[in-house]
Amino acid sequence: MMQAQVFTLYPEIFPGPLNKGIYSKAMTKKLWSLKVINIRDSAQDKHKTVDDTPYGGGTGMLIKPDVLANSIDQNVNNGDRIFYLSPKGKRFDQKFAQDLSKEKSFSLICGQFEGVDERVLGTRNIEEVSIGDYVLSGGETAAFVILDSVLRLLPGVLGNDKSPADETFENGLLEYPQFTKPQIWEEKAVPEVLLSGDHTKIKDWRLSQSEAITRDRRPDLWQKYKKD
Ligand code: ADE
Repeated sequence: MMQAQVFTLYPEIFPGPLNKGIYSKAMTKKLWSLKVINIRDSAQDKHKTVDDTPYGGGTGMLIKPDVLANSIDQNVNNGDRIFYLSPKGKRFDQKFAQDLSKEKSFSLICGQFEGVDERVLGTRNIEEVSIGDYVLSGGETAAFVILDSVLRLLPGVLGNDKSPADETFENGLLEYPQFTKPQIWEEKAVPEVLLSGDHTKIKDWRLSQSEAITRDRRPDLWQKYKKD
């Protein structure tokens, strides 16, 4: 079973969307579990202070290193990977999701305010990870994105273990277009080749569609695909 841990100041918003559909079934089947840790529980003073102003000035507040380190030390097993969600982290992608899906357990730290004291990242060997080039108000939504993309790769979570293989990004290309019944809808017909029953031809058509879409929409992926 994969164990995911989330450190947050808003524990009540978890498991949120992960309590629905395939993820709640997978939890019942004990394919994964989620432990949610309230960072505030590790605050030492009677006001349960978790943040303070940055040295050197500037706007916003930072999560205090002592509070966060206490929370980590009480909850993370030695050797487990710990990620801090931040726009300046290493970019999360499908390959990252595949790597994470092989871990037995990992932790995600959700920041709020302006961030965390830098020292705690170094002393606790924390990897910074970003879900994209935009700024969120906190790491919680990013944690949902990461968990969703990782958990669906666990064997048994999706009904059909084979299905991730064909998807967008799995072969470095965007996915080909798909069609279902009715065969003619609003005077538009499904591409002939898909009705042919010729699996080689269908495979070739899908690959050429994937290539055309990727070339058009994602020149960055296209360049990489052509090189590999
Ligand atoms: N927290 C704020 N912005 C973020 C981003 N882009 N990725 C991950 N965590 C974040």
